[in-house]
Amino acid sequence: MSQRLVVVSNRVTVPRAGEPQAGGLAVALRGALETYGGLWFGWNGRVGERTGPPEKTEHAGVTYATVPLTRQEHDDYYLGYANEVLWPLCHFMLSAMDYRRSYRDCYWAVNAAFAEHLLPMIGGDDILWIHDYHLIPLADTLRRSGVDRPMGFFLHIPFPSYSLLRALPDHRQILKDLCQYDLLGFQTHDDLRAFRTAVVETMAARILDDDIIEVQGHRLRASVFPVGIEVDELSDLAARSRYSRRVERLLRSLQDRDLVIGVDRLDYSKGLPKRFQSFERFLEQQRNRHGRLVYMQIANPSRSEIPEYQELRRQLEEMAGHINGRFSDFDWMPLRYLHKSFARASLLGFYRNARAALITPLRDGMNLVAKEYVAAQDPDDPGVPVLSELAGAARELEAALLVNPFDIDATAEALERALSMPAEQRRERYHAMIEVLRRNDLTRWREEFLHQLRQGCEAG
Ligand code: UDP
Ligand code: G6P
Repeated sequence: MSQRLVVVSNRVTVPRAGEPQAGGLAVALRGALETYGGLWFGWNGRVGERTGPPEKTEHAGVTYATVPLTRQEHDDYYLGYANEVLWPLCHFMLSAMDYRRSYRDCYWAVNAAFAEHLLPMIGGDDILWIHDYHLIPLADTLRRSGVDRPMGFFLHIPFPSYSLLRALPDHRQILKDLCQYDLLGFQTHDDLRAFRTAVVETMAARILDDDIIEVQGHRLRASVFPVGIEVDELSDLAARSRYSRRVERLLRSLQDRDLVIGVDRLDYSKGLPKRFQSFERFLEQQRNRHGRLVYMQIANPSRSEIPEYQELRRQLEEMAGHINGRFSDFDWMPLRYLHKSFARASLLGFYRNARAALITPLRDGMNLVAKEYVAAQDPDDPGVPVLSELAGAARELEAALLVNPFDIDATAEALERALSMPAEQRRERYHAMIEVLRRNDLTRWREEFLHQLRQGCEAG
C-alpha cells in the first residue's frame, strides 16, 4: 500500500551518523517510517523562537521535521500541562498535580501551533500516527483545518480511572479531543476499560462490537496494543556485551559479588524511595548477604526543572547516604546510586550480569526496562526480575516475581527469593517470559496498530 506515514510525537530525536542507537520506540517508529516512507514531526528538544517553518533533515528515506518550543511553551505546555498536570493524573498521583489555567491555555495553543506547522506537510494519501499525552488535541485541531486523513493515537502512559479523571477540570475536553481520532491505542485492558467508562459516563457513548465506540454521531475504534521490544536484536547485543570494556570494568569492580540492578528515569512514578526502603529492609533481614551483593540503581536525569523531581532527587541522595552509612564496611558498599544516563547497549550488558532486577514502579504504562532485562538474560543462567504488579509489563510477564511496590516487606522477600532461586526454576520462568516477549514484539505492536488504522480508513 502506498500510503505515506506521518508520525507526530512531542520529542523527536533526529538520528545522526555515528551516534548510538536511540531507544526502542524511536527505533520501531523509524523502522515503520523507513518501510513505508514518511515524515516524523515534533519538538527538537531546544528552547528558542520559532522564526520559520520546521527544520528538515533526511535520513534513510525519512524526513525529520522539528521545531523548537519558546521558553513560555516549554514551561507551560511541556513542563506545565503535560508534566505537572497530565503526567501525575495519569499516574494516579493527584498530590503532585499543579493545575493552572495558563498551562491549560498554552497546551491547546501549542497543539494548534503544531497543527499549523504540520498542515502544509500533509499529503492526500497520508495516514497520521500521533503519540502520547502531550498531543491529545492534535486531531481535533487538524480536523477543524479540513484534514480528513485517518488519524491514530497511542497513549504510552496509563489512562486514569473515571473517578480520578474527574479531578482534571478539562477532562470533558480531553475526552472529546480523544474521540476525534479514528483509532486509539492503549497499553493494557485496564486503560481501555477506564477510557470506555469515562466516555460512557460523560459523553453517553455506546460501546459496540469489535472495540468500536459510537459517540456523538462518530465511530472510532479503541483497542489494546501492548508495546514490545526487538527481542532478538537486544538479546544479541546483550550476549556480545561480554567483550565490552564497560562490562569488564563493572565485573572487575564487583569482585564476584552478585549484582542487583535498577534502571529508571528519576521520576516519582518509578517508586524509588519505596524501593530503597525495601532494600534497607532486605539488608536488615538477610545478614548473610552482607558483603556478597551490590545493588546498582541508575536513575537517569529527567524533567529536573519540576519541583517534585528536584525533591525526589534530594530524597534519594539522602536515602542512599543513609543506607550506605548504616551497612557499608571498610571493603564493601551495598548501594551504588548513579544519577546519569547510559546508552542502551551498555545497559544491556549490565542487565545480563545482574542476578536480579528491581523494577517496582507505583504505576507505569508499560515499563520497557522490565522487558529489556528479560531479553538480555543468558538463557542457560538467567537472572530474575522482581516486578511491580502495577506496571503494564506485569500483564505479560506473569512469570516474573510480581510484587505490590507499596508493600516494602514483600519486595524485600521477593529479592531474597530471586537471589536464591534454583537454576531450573529460573530457566522455566525465563522461557515463559521470553516466549511472550517474542509473541508481542515491537514489530507486531506497530504492524497491528497500522493495520487497524488502515482497515478503518478502507472501511470508512
Ligand atoms: N534508558 C536508556 N538509558 C538510561 C536509562 C534508560 O537508554 O540511562 C532507556 C531504557 O533502556 C528504556 C527506556 O529508556 O528503553 C525507558 O523506558 P521505560 O518504559 O522503562 O520508562 P519511561 O522512561 O518511558 O517511563
Ligand atoms: C515517557 C513518556 C514519553 C517521554 C519519555 C521521556 O516514556 O511516555 O512521552 O518522551 O517519558 O520524558 P521527556 O519528558 O524527557 O520527553
